[in-house]
Amino acid sequence: MSVQINDLELLDAVRDFALRHSHPAVQKFSDSMQNWGDDWVSIEPTYLPAADFLAEAIANTDQQTRPLVETFAQHKNRMHWEQSYKKADDVVPDAMLEGYAFAEIIGKRGPFISDRIRAGMGIWGPDILYPRHQHQAEEIYIVLAGAAEFKIGVDDETRHVAGDVVYVQSNMPHGFRTTDQSLVVYYLWQAGDLRQTSSFG
Ligand SMILES: [Fe+2]
Repeated sequence: MSVQINDLELLDAVRDFALRHSHPAVQKFSDSMQNWGDDWVSIEPTYLPAADFLAEAIANTDQQTRPLVETFAQHKNRMHWEQSYKKADDVVPDAMLEGYAFAEIIGKRGPFISDRIRAGMGIWGPDILYPRHQHQAEEIYIVLAGAAEFKIGVDDETRHVAGDVVYVQSNMPHGFRTTDQSLVVYYLWQAGDLRQTSSFG
């Protein structure tokens, strides 16, 4: 099967956003992004309620981040929305399970398959705590819409808004709490198991 044109639009959107970004932490991911791989697999669309926050989130973007959020909003219904955690794991609050989702564009499970880089969009509703957790891969969050109070390592809690870049080094504990707005982030992982389950505490 040949690559679906809609998937190519999403691939171009996430690649261009990262490769054109001037922040040095984002540029650390350029090599992986340029050489993500060459395999594509068709992914079954799935729905999660948090995807619906995309529509209102567009109002809370900035000039730089709006086009990417609009692209994801356009493709929302044919994307594979998923979660990393289950209620039985008892690691994140029920409110987070009811109000978050992510859709991956590049990563171990596709649609664009890569062992080098993981890239996609995560959405959290208002007033949600994502507890402190860690994983081997280094990570970037770029806030696309809304705001959250991020806690990275021993640093003070810091509020980040649309356009801000949050870098998390390998195995560094990190978490955040969303504000009264929903939060949309673009995430990147590299240099670790790209589907490692985070450890908490
Ligand atoms: Fe993380």
